[in-house]
Amino acid sequence: MTDLHRIIEDLGPWFHNLHLPGGLATRPDHPLGDFPRSNWELLAPHLPSDLSGRTVLDIGCNAGFYSVELARRGARVTALDVDARYLRQARWAADLWGVADRIEFEHAPVYALGRRRRTWDIVLFLGVLYHLRYPMLGLDVVSRCTRELLVVQTLSAPGAPDFDAPRDLDLRDRAPLGAPAWPKLSFIEHRLADDPTNWWAPNPTCVEAMLRTSGLRVLARPAQEFFLCTPDPDLESNMWRWNEEEYWAALGAPFRP
Ligand SMILES: C[S@@+](CC[C@H](N)C(=O)[O-])C[C@H]1O[C@@H](n2cnc3c(N)ncnc32)[C@H](O)[C@@H]1O
Repeated sequence: MTDLHRIIEDLGPWFHNLHLPGGLATRPDHPLGDFPRSNWELLAPHLPSDLSGRTVLDIGCNAGFYSVELARRGARVTALDVDARYLRQARWAADLWGVADRIEFEHAPVYALGRRRRTWDIVLFLGVLYHLRYPMLGLDVVSRCTRELLVVQTLSAPGAPDFDAPRDLDLRDRAPLGAPAWPKLSFIEHRLADDPTNWWAPNPTCVEAMLRTSGLRVLARPAQEFFLCTPDPDLESNMWRWNEEEYWAALGAPFRP
């Protein structure tokens, strides 16, 4: 066994399949194929190729695949994850690719970003939303961290891609809520893909409605389950217009009526 083999084994188990010098890979048997390289190939053309002078936040950075790629494009990256093992992998990967000086690592849940009022030019929120017990709170936090572009990817449930929501519903006629395209967030009590933290599967119209009510305009859907968004304070359904106190209370800030 080579030193590199031993390091990979010691740092594992892995979710990201990183391709290492010499042809080794950290998760060659990934059930999603060559992951996340296949997703990166879909996303990369939609991000600036030169990110010099720009800041990026990678939420749920895992083993740092995206953080490293964006640092290699010149960005200053904050890579955040709640799992210490994944952060160890990401730190190691950043060293290996010579970009450790451009990545700041943080061991914290996404909610911890909420009270800091710090923002980044580009935010990646990939593969995290459906793991959150409090998905709208997480999304509101992420929305507030974003200056220009937010990239969201989420596990989703089947459904129509578009839906024109009525302006109001009659309390006595809630049948429209059963329409196939109605925004739905399916709750998973037990497991999906044997993972008990896969709590939610929104259908596509639900993802878009959630994004809008977090103050985000959807610019494009570059691939299935991917959404490119930008903050838009003029959105009619933007929650900041009507219930900001609830947000701060959920984050534990003192309530000042
Ligand atoms: C499905 S993986 C996605 C990894 C990577 N973003 C990607 O798309 O390839 C989910 C990642 O989110 C992290 N995560 C889960 N819940 C989190 C939370 N509340 N705050 C921050 N990270 C979280 C996990 O530790 C894991 O690394």
